[in-house]
Amino acid sequence: MYLYHFGLSELPFNLTPDTDFYCELPVYRDAMNVLRVAIESGEGFVKVIGEVGTGKTMLCRMLLNYLEKRAQCAYLPNPYLSPNELRLALASELSIRVARTIDQYQLTEKINRKILKLHEKGKPVIVIVDEAQALPKETLEALRLFTNLETEKKKLLQVVLFAQPELDARLAQPDLRQLRQRISFSTNLRPLDLTSIQVYLSHRLKAAGFTTERIPGGELFTKSAIKVLLRNSRGIPRLVNVLAHKSLMLAYGHGKFIIEAADVRAAARDTDDVSFKSWWLGLLIALGLSGSLYGVVLSGWLP
Ligand SMILES: Nc1ncnc2c1ncn2[C@@H]1O[C@H](COP(=O)(O)OP(=O)(O)OP(=O)(O)O)[C@@H](O)[C@H]1O
Ligand SMILES: [Mg+2]
Repeated sequence: MYLYHFGLSELPFNLTPDTDFYCELPVYRDAMNVLRVAIESGEGFVKVIGEVGTGKTMLCRMLLNYLEKRAQCAYLPNPYLSPNELRLALASELSIRVARTIDQYQLTEKINRKILKLHEKGKPVIVIVDEAQALPKETLEALRLFTNLETEKKKLLQVVLFAQPELDARLAQPDLRQLRQRISFSTNLRPLDLTSIQVYLSHRLKAAGFTTERIPGGELFTKSAIKVLLRNSRGIPRLVNVLAHKSLMLAYGHGKFIIEAADVRAAARDTDDVSFKSWWLGLLIALGLSGSLYGVVLSGWLP
């Protein structure tokens, strides 16, 4: 691979959300601030919405790290849970020992008692759900009922939902209006702009051991390469990673030390779900359409 060629100690653009590579760009700083304020003010529900690949799981892990000493977290990475499974998962995350056959009423009681006990010890309980757009309606409702536990000032259990925009569509339905009203804080993960992508690339490269010494000018990606990267990734970090990794491989294959626009374009041609293909597809469709229009016009003219 290209590690030695570029002087890296590990792959800089892996797809796993590894917090060692976390880059505190304005969009993530803003979202983290909203989360901190919401949690400190003791509100019931908070949501973080982001398109696929915009960094929700990464932020979720950063939040878990931040809360480690401050709260008792219950992390639910897989939300395809029935209400009963949710209660069991919650019990397990809160270290409550129960038999799988326990009656649901007793289980709810045990969880409530544990939440109260943790509150007395000064530990707020925070349930963090990733992929929350997939939570069944009944499970969302079960979660809402747990947030009914409160003192005069604060909820005893708070819920942070990380989700794709489909969650907003679901919350707009009338049968979820009660939950919708409980969401007092929310934030959206917008795509990265040009400056953020530049900072993002440098940050991840540095975290992977890259030093600028052997590169003339100090930047591995040229300005125009970053522009092509932005256009083709639409500012989505996961696509930035895919394209950046492939561009590095291509440049390495050609024995180059600088990534240029042509390398990123070639990487984009080889990648699903990036703008390059949709751009070409759009062009082909447009050509096809204009071709058939031309045909219609011609056939109208010809006898
Ligand atoms: N703040 C960040 N700093 C560094 N890398 C990031 C950051 N945010 C996201 N990434 C990278 O972008 C990629 C996608 O991030 P992540 O998996 O968190 O997205 P997601 O929104 O959870 O995607 P999905 O909707 O598919 O679950 C990962 O490789 C991750 O390392
Ligand atoms: Mg995710």
